[in-house]
Amino acid sequence: MKETAVLIMAAGKGKRMKSDLPKVLHNLAGKPILNYVFDTINHFEVKRKIIIVGYKSEKIRELIGDKIEYAEQKEQLGTAHAVLQTKELLSDFKGNVLILSGDVPFLTVKTLKRLLKYHQSNNFCCTLMSAILKNPQGYGRIIRDKEGKMEGIIEEVDLPADKKLITEINTGIYCFDKETLFQALEKIVPENKQGEYYLTDLVKILLKEGLEVGSIIAKDNSEILGINTQLDLANASKKVYQRMIQKLMFQGVSIIDPNSTFIEPGVKIGQDTIIYPFTIIEKGTKIGKSCLIGPYSHLIDANIGNGVKIWASIIESSTVKERVNIGPYTHLRPETIVKKGAKIGNFVELKKTILGEGSKASHLTYLGDAVIGKQVNIGAGTITCNYDGQKKNKTVIEEGVFVGSNNSLVAPVKLGKGSYTGAGSTITEDVPAGNLAIARARQKNISGWVNRKKKDKK
Ligand code: UD1
Ligand code: CA
Repeated sequence: MKETAVLIMAAGKGKRMKSDLPKVLHNLAGKPILNYVFDTINHFEVKRKIIIVGYKSEKIRELIGDKIEYAEQKEQLGTAHAVLQTKELLSDFKGNVLILSGDVPFLTVKTLKRLLKYHQSNNFCCTLMSAILKNPQGYGRIIRDKEGKMEGIIEEVDLPADKKLITEINTGIYCFDKETLFQALEKIVPENKQGEYYLTDLVKILLKEGLEVGSIIAKDNSEILGINTQLDLANASKKVYQRMIQKLMFQGVSIIDPNSTFIEPGVKIGQDTIIYPFTIIEKGTKIGKSCLIGPYSHLIDANIGNGVKIWASIIESSTVKERVNIGPYTHLRPETIVKKGAKIGNFVELKKTILGEGSKASHLTYLGDAVIGKQVNIGAGTITCNYDGQKKNKTVIEEGVFVGSNNSLVAPVKLGKGSYTGAGSTITEDVPAGNLAIARARQKNISGWVNRKKKDKK
């Protein structure tokens, strides 16, 4: 087997996206389009891996890092011009050059291997992968003569009316013999509607030179899907979500409405968990068995134990242990840990807080930078005043504490084991274990006041 170099073309802006962000950096169900291609070639053993960058290349370098070689295409003059930019990098290389596009995300290693094998065993100078599509719109078409012999490729924009019905398309995935590729690239001229150097013109050029160009047809059309517009992107995202939901359902997860549920690849969910509609689950979230999640919930990088209920709530980078009950309208912000059997209710926000086993914060509460022990009751409207304008301070609430309603706990402060605080207290000093702290103005009842006021009016 000859050695192989893989090139990924990713220098274009993606004009049809109508966006300032490079097309290949647009988010496709949780990660940039380019990452799909990159992850695929990471599972593919080859001698060289090169990415061709241009438009906002610094953003692509930032994402991909130095795990790959870079070729810079300063001006985006077309796909042939893009490939030409790797000439110097590949000057000492001999073998096959496999060309991929950064905007074709679902290609698999298996398909690449199949193309490479076919190319090698037939000793072609170029082998391209085509596909037969019901709706070929947007792709270059493969032109063949009456005998079915390939004649060339015509881009959609340059296609004469009588060729519009051709359903065999160019997937933009090719394998070339390196020497043949670069000698032929020099012969391409930008004579087409877009005035670009088309890589696809190589086919015509090689055939003219009497060389043999091979082709194989893709077995699975969903693999060769190219993303050019926002609509293509949304359709591709939908495919990823559908695939993920199907996989989970086969693992015993109930998903009430796959159409309104969005679960990113990499998420893990246990058997007998039910996901209710309008729920989004992202970034490697893990959910245990027999949970009820949603409706209307958004989980990002969350770690959820078994038997947890989450209703209409947002959870970010937090850990929730078994049998916890959350929501509606709870927000767990990063670095929060909620222990076994705890309950967090309506309009409660936790940030960087540990809530102990069996503890409750049921209504209208903010708990930030707090360490809360077991079996604590946090009254409605409790606020940890954790920020003094300069730094964040800690609130410690020990086991079995009862915090009355509408308390302000001015941190740093500690409520000792089993202590109570009266409703409406502003706690500024530590409360020793077993004490009751009342920190509010004493009520004064003024007798006869109302009657006197009425008389005055007359
Ligand atoms: C290309 C093919 C078309 C094929 C389709 C398959 C050409 C001329 N056409 O069309 O036959 O059906 O892919 O998906 O090749 N790029 C650069 N530099 C440039 C131009 C493009 O790096 O100067 C990169 C883009 O960033 C993109 C890839 O090449 O990742 C393909 O470019 P795009 O403009 O999307 O080509 P298509 O019109 O889809
Ligand atoms: Ca494309």
